Amino acid sequence: MKTTLRLAAVGMLVGFVGTVAAAGDPAAGEQKANACAGCHGKTGISSSPQNPNIAGQHEQALYDSMIAYKEGKRDHPAMKAFIAPLSDQDIADLAAFYASQPCK
Ligand code: HEC
Repeated sequence: MKTTLRLAAVGMLVGFVGTVAAAGDPAAGEQKANACAGCHGKTGISSSPQNPNIAGQHEQALYDSMIAYKEGKRDHPAMKAFIAPLSDQDIADLAAFYASQPCK
């Protein structure tokens, strides 16, 4: 009985660690952000009114909008082209990086 409980606890712990590992890493995101800098600026503040500022938005919101471009739920040719080759982990890292940047 005790063993069963301990196994359940270990299982929950592994599940929890797994979730954390999948979260975005801002440092890794910064490395991946070069491709985006031309349009969104190096830290997510765009120099052109054509392109939205993406610095300082909520991480989850950034992640969700990038996934929406990837899955075609949001349609924009340039964004789709840049997001298409990225993995979900890349997108999580980029979201963490831009969320950590000041919005001004
Ligand atoms: C060729 C220019 C260009 C490049 C390169 C580009 N974007 Fe974009 N991005 C845009 C434009 C334009 C929009 C607004 C599109 C729309 O109207 O939906 C946008 C929208 C977004 C949004 C949604 C912003 C919001 O507030 O809704 C995110 C997040 C984003 N881009 C992230 C990225 C990331 C990360 C990269 C690099 C992998 C990238 N973009 C590369 C032009 C670009």
